[in-house]
Amino acid sequence: MDLYCVMGNPVAHSKSPWIHARFAELTGQSLHYEKRLIDLDGFETAVRSFAAEGGLGCNVTVPFKFAAAALASGISERATLAQAANTLSFKEGAIWADNTDGVGLVADIEQGAGIDLQGRHLLLIGAGGAAAGVLAALLLTQPAGITVVNRTLSKAVDLVRRHASLALLQKAELSALDLQQLNNQFDVVINASSSSLSGSGVPVAGSVLKPGALAYDMMYGPTAQGFMTWASEHGARARDGLGMLVAQAAESFFIWRGVRPPAQQVLAELRAAR
Ligand code: ATR
Repeated sequence: MDLYCVMGNPVAHSKSPWIHARFAELTGQSLHYEKRLIDLDGFETAVRSFAAEGGLGCNVTVPFKFAAAALASGISERATLAQAANTLSFKEGAIWADNTDGVGLVADIEQGAGIDLQGRHLLLIGAGGAAAGVLAALLLTQPAGITVVNRTLSKAVDLVRRHASLALLQKAELSALDLQQLNNQFDVVINASSSSLSGSGVPVAGSVLKPGALAYDMMYGPTAQGFMTWASEHGARARDGLGMLVAQAAESFFIWRGVRPPAQQVLAELRAAR
């Protein structure tokens, strides 16, 4: 059977095996997808031995997305901009890296939440790996502008610089601010920071939300709850990242299998099962 996996550390709670098994079932594809816990210093060896075992591709999660982009023999433009990859494909001895997180986020906002991002004002909170993975895809929707805000301004500035040509092409204003400089309102506020993991509150004031704005946390489950509650209390529509998780998996599945799985159906099943 065609073999795939997700590599991470930790990886025990990954929903990817379930999601890909369900995609395979619904599209009539024959494959096996498993999770692999990888030693922190053993990622490259694990990838090469998985390919040698006959694996056809793998998803990559925390903390190996940067290493995945770095070891590839070929890399997509979106993964180059992100400097991170979540999808590896093994073909004829070569490793091809891509990043489907951004298209996953955009698909879930546009199709899942029903919001067209074109012409909107977006706020992206955070400038780490999660933010880097989605900025190019957000720019490709031709928003009016994207403000990247981060506790450490220099990281937001670097991220914005790297995406400046794409922003120009898309006629989208792209700027970096630190948390104290933020005083505008936005249609869509995306939390790509990991502040909730450290137990801190939402790093921006509720005044950034236009009435009825979409407030999106790229995490899901209990980790996203603080942001979702904050958003609802400030009159925004709150959405967690479960739809993004399914949509990025759907894009990886498409890269590997050439078939688009029914992501909305699988997301509805996951939500119902919680
Ligand atoms: P990830 O891969 O999840 O993005 P990361 O690369 O470590 O993880 O990035 C974490 C992001 O969350 C960063 O933007 C970080 O801000 P700094 O660049 O200033 O470190 C942000 N972050 C983490 N804890 C935070 C907190 N308590 N308040 C505000 N931002 C926080």
